[in-house]
Amino acid sequence: MKHAEQMLRDDALAGKVIVVTGGGSGLGKSMTSYFLKLGARVAITSRNLKKLETTAQELMQETGGDCYAVACDVRNIDEVEAMHIQVLENYGAVDVLVNNAAGNFIAPTERLSSNAFDTILDIVLKGTKNCTLTFGKHWIKTKQKKTNVLNVVTTYAFTGSGYVVPSACAKAGVLAMTRSLAVEWAKYGMRFNAVAPGPFPTKGAWDRLLPAPIKRKFDPKKRIPIGRVGEHQELSNLVAYIISDFGAYLNGEVITIDGGEWLKGAGQFNNLEQVKKTMWDLLELAIRRKNS
Ligand code: HXC
Ligand code: NAP
Repeated sequence: MKHAEQMLRDDALAGKVIVVTGGGSGLGKSMTSYFLKLGARVAITSRNLKKLETTAQELMQETGGDCYAVACDVRNIDEVEAMHIQVLENYGAVDVLVNNAAGNFIAPTERLSSNAFDTILDIVLKGTKNCTLTFGKHWIKTKQKKTNVLNVVTTYAFTGSGYVVPSACAKAGVLAMTRSLAVEWAKYGMRFNAVAPGPFPTKGAWDRLLPAPIKRKFDPKKRIPIGRVGEHQELSNLVAYIISDFGAYLNGEVITIDGGEWLKGAGQFNNLEQVKKTMWDLLELAIRRKNS
């Protein structure tokens, strides 16, 4: 068995309708592909309808599943409500919302205009709020049970990070929303969970967070104890489990999948791995001498 094999049984998501924001590219596309293979019908949504339609066609051919493309800028509540209605007209009901759409780029915070900061907050935090409120209110009104929301955050949602401050603020807000609604809306039959991926190569993230000169200097693999970046299927396996009925007792959780990256940064002495054996021999001697 290999770590990037498909994990769940074939019908694990049969009968479910899932909406994936930002489903036309990157991790959203990979997750959608796996949800389709597991028997779900999936609506993918983002700003670029042409890209979504191409992706939907490609994934339907690849999986034999049913994928529906709907244009929507998650920053705009009117567009989110219209997208929701369009999906309901097409599929009748929705069981799962995956808030995956995001915007991000690296920049010293003092170089950001107010609009640049707002742009990221609006896509990530307001966009997640717009979708969650629209879908959640509908589920409450129609008394639909066994629904759930999966939010894609990142590890700096809880550690914070310089140079991506708007994204860190927005993802922290999304994590707070996840934990808050996991409690408040459980009585309506909804579950709320989050995943916090470490580096998983995608064009969207790599172009904006690891442009070539940065990548040469800060190879992400070197920061990860496991020594490699994530494979998309590994994240898809985790998310499919959480949103499936197998995850029915999982609520209010954020699961990190980063090969130990954030902990390596957090442990004060973790960089001592650079110390060679001969140096350790000398250090040990020196420390033992002090002890005696
Ligand atoms: C400073 C910048 C900038 C930059 C844009 N702006 N790029 N400021 N440095 N590099 C400013 C603009 O000048 C403008 O402010 C404001 O931001 C909005 O820019 P627009 O181009 O008008 O916005 P828009 O067309 O809506 O595009 C949004 C975007 C873009 C976020 C800027 O990159 C995008 O569409 N991204 C979507 C996909 C994405 O980002 N994927 C990566 C997710 S990765 P002014 O004041 O001039 O009007 C991720 C990983 C997390 O989240 C964790 C990794 C480990
Ligand atoms: P990506 O391919 O750039 O995905 C972002 C998606 O969001 C795109 O499909 C984009 O589509 C959509 N989007 C952006 N603005 C939108 C808006 N206003 N309305 C609707 N859709 C919008 O990047 P990714 O790496 O797959 O990221 C997916 C998720 O994983 C994000 O939440 C990201 O923060 C998270 N994440 C990624 C990594 C990583 O290493 N890749 C690590 C941690 C967390 P359009 O441009 O067509 O709108």
